[in-house]
Amino acid sequence: MKVSPVSPSAAERWFQRFAACVLGYLLLVIVFGAWVRITGSGAGCGAHWPSCQGELVPRSPSEATLIEYSHRLSSGLSGLAALVLPLWAFRVFPAGHAARRWSLRTLLLVAVEGAIGAALVKNRLVADDASLARAIVVALHLVNTLLLTASATLTVVAAGRGENPHTSSSEGAARAPLLLIVLIGLGLVAATGAVTALGDTLFPVPLSGGSAVAGSAGGGALRPAADHFLVQLRVLHPVLACGLVVAALGLAKLLASVPSVRPWALLLGGLALLQLVLGGVNVLLRAPGWLQLAHLLVAQLLWISAVLAAQSFWRSGSAISGSPISGSPISRSPISRSPVPGGPAARGEAARRSISRSNA
Ligand code: HEM
Repeated sequence: MKVSPVSPSAAERWFQRFAACVLGYLLLVIVFGAWVRITGSGAGCGAHWPSCQGELVPRSPSEATLIEYSHRLSSGLSGLAALVLPLWAFRVFPAGHAARRWSLRTLLLVAVEGAIGAALVKNRLVADDASLARAIVVALHLVNTLLLTASATLTVVAAGRGENPHTSSSEGAARAPLLLIVLIGLGLVAATGAVTALGDTLFPVPLSGGSAVAGSAGGGALRPAADHFLVQLRVLHPVLACGLVVAALGLAKLLASVPSVRPWALLLGGLALLQLVLGGVNVLLRAPGWLQLAHLLVAQLLWISAVLAAQSFWRSGSAISGSPISGSPISRSPISRSPVPGGPAARGEAARRSISRSNA
């Protein structure tokens, strides 16, 4: 579809700034959620939700109650912000605009996030609980946070376009399977990371070596846990993550040849390397709390950079729907219109072909 580049109006720019703030705030709330797990404060409000210990404002709260209650307040505020997002988008953008769609999806995903949090609390899948159900729910919780930050990111991007784009992602996806593999791989690696993080919280690796123990997160007595599935699964995440980092670096190298995608590709490659280092140090230092938070934040930023690279690539692809890759004879983008041998256009085209070929 032809995209008409119109600069965003002042109202659209204000919306975009607000959406960017919402995205930043969501990242803070997500990292705060990990702090709740690390401090074993998930049961700080008992099995009550949305009330805390059966009260609207807990009286004489313990430290765990304060942490869990603050998390609820901060995530409640993110719900309000996510509600404002589509209300504002529907006032500012015309019918069918992508900013409307993405802001609605963001609201929906915040609601799902709250529902998963409530399910964890109501079913007592918190504190020292080491059940399979909890492992599955925390993995789903993390995948939902990825969908949420992707949706909030795309709201910001769409708001900045000042147009009414209909990028065909399925068409773009067919053009670059490696991108899809990295995106899905990131979701999988992050989900296994959440399970590893749960294992490290419930069964901390002793600093002097020896077998894993459990109970410290919730303040309970330490107990041997070498046979527990959370301990045995610990190795899965680093192995999968190393493979994914290699794929992400390969993808970043290919995408860097497309001029409009290059900044995101470089960010993707840089963050993948940083995450590899953080992950390795995490293992060496036996996952101290501050490093878990940093690792989680970089996982989100890495994901966002992959989403931005993907949308930027698919967008450039949709504007060249007539490229030889898709087989149609029409060609509209500046890249495909000026295929100077060895120039950016030719390199961009070569990269797109190479990505498609390498994954055909
Ligand atoms: C693409 C690269 C990677 C991504 C996207 C990723 C993502 C994640 C995520 C989302 C978590 C859960 C964080 C939380 O809920 O608190 C996690 C945990 C963990 N990851 Fe990774 N990771 C990556 C690479 C690695 C590597 C290469 C290693 C080791 C060599 C590693 C080791 C760990 C460990 C030990 C934990 C548990 C402690 C913690 O939460 O930080 N990760 N990872």
